[in-house]
Amino acid sequence: MAKARTLFFCLDCGAESVRWEGRCPSCGAWNTLAEAPVSSDSGRRGGQGRRRSPAGPAGSGEHPRAEPLGAPGDGAERVPSGFEIVDRVLGGGLVPGSLLLLGGEPGIGKSTILLQIAARVQATGRRVLYASGEESRDQVRLRAERIGRGAMALPFLATSNLEDVLEAAEPDASTSGAPALLCIDSIQTLSTDDGGPQGGVSQVRACAARAQEFAKRTGTSVVLVGHVTKGGGLAGPRTLEHVVDVVLHFDGRRSGEFRLLRSTKNRFGSAEEVAAFRMTASGLEPVADPSALFLDDRPADASGSAVAVAMHGSQAILTEIQALTAPARYGSPQRMTTGFPSRRLAILLAVLERRADIGLGDSDVFLSVVGGARLTDPGADLAVVAALASSHLDRPIGAGTALVGEVGLSGELRGVSRPEARAQAAVRAGLGDVVLPGVHRQALAGIRGVRFADHVREVVKELSS
Ligand code: TYD
Ligand code: MG
Repeated sequence: MAKARTLFFCLDCGAESVRWEGRCPSCGAWNTLAEAPVSSDSGRRGGQGRRRSPAGPAGSGEHPRAEPLGAPGDGAERVPSGFEIVDRVLGGGLVPGSLLLLGGEPGIGKSTILLQIAARVQATGRRVLYASGEESRDQVRLRAERIGRGAMALPFLATSNLEDVLEAAEPDASTSGAPALLCIDSIQTLSTDDGGPQGGVSQVRACAARAQEFAKRTGTSVVLVGHVTKGGGLAGPRTLEHVVDVVLHFDGRRSGEFRLLRSTKNRFGSAEEVAAFRMTASGLEPVADPSALFLDDRPADASGSAVAVAMHGSQAILTEIQALTAPARYGSPQRMTTGFPSRRLAILLAVLERRADIGLGDSDVFLSVVGGARLTDPGADLAVVAALASSHLDRPIGAGTALVGEVGLSGELRGVSRPEARAQAAVRAGLGDVVLPGVHRQALAGIRGVRFADHVREVVKELSS
């Protein structure tokens, strides 16, 4: 018998907990745990009912049967999304039977990109279904008119009931098999009959479990759109990140035209790749070389700004880092970062203090990665350190300079991955001065405009001289 038990999920980070706590034990956010039932035959394992036979051609018996890993008919071909750069993010296209979550802030362009992908998949002769609980047929038609490319021919269903969606997607005599792609926009606006109160975490999870069961059984790739706000204000999608196969995030500045699609989790490929788009009057357009995308409108000769060249998968992207340091006036000094791990910042501050005589222990420190990108690449360390020193010393770094290097605990500069790709991206973007760790001296000798340093002290000294 399926027995319901309840778990608690953090709305911010998705971590689960067996009991309620005021503070999430995983990410430390306050008051973000919400309760949701998890029946023992659904939920984490993807909602495959125990009584239901497993997916695949061999799954018709009552008892589960083991099959060789390489059984014929498996490893079905991936479905191209129609955008080469999206396929790269996906690790080679949509995997049949997979469940994807497309998250991002409201208004960033999730529905637009998904509609474009759906139209392109349909253009290859595959069956597609787009369901929206958020917008009416007229609203979606207006969007389809703008993006063109056969989007007007997409089968569309406006409903807030997930059962309706799955029923419409179910293969029958009138359809040519199950859809290759089913788009559900958005997971927060759909509900399932037995999922509890609308809009709550339990609804979101119940819908995802049903969608996953459908995906596995029919081989359809199901994309769930999920609105995510910075404060975690909208319930749910983050709690799905452990359930789905692929998590895609669509971000960028809403006011600006550029958008980045990245995967933060991918069971079928690397989770590092990014795809860059430009929002135009007729939908999103891929940007072939995103290396300099986030460098627009840099303040010339302002202290505290430095350019990093960070790898996002196979692409080197230039990113501006801004630091502001000021004597702390009120009690203990503040440390605030956006887009850069705060623990890493603490280490770099200690290195600056001990190895380069830049003491910021009594200062407020604010660090921000411009353009909404998130830097996890250690090769961005040197630019962070330089931005901090530049603000502290009030000496600007030249607008044509990029800094690359991982900073070790003794202040030494350590080698980075793909040094030549980074140097070339900087040169392509018109930066004539690229500072790299000395270990790459030999490998990069032929590239104009590169120079080398072995210790953060050298970089700081150059700033203060
Ligand atoms: P949308 O896809 O509706 O965002 P989301 O689903 O993430 O909430 O995109 C909304 C914004 O995109 C809206 O402000 C209008 C703009 N837009 C364009 O600039 N050009 C276009 O061709 C389309 C379809 C939308
Ligand atoms: Mg939308």
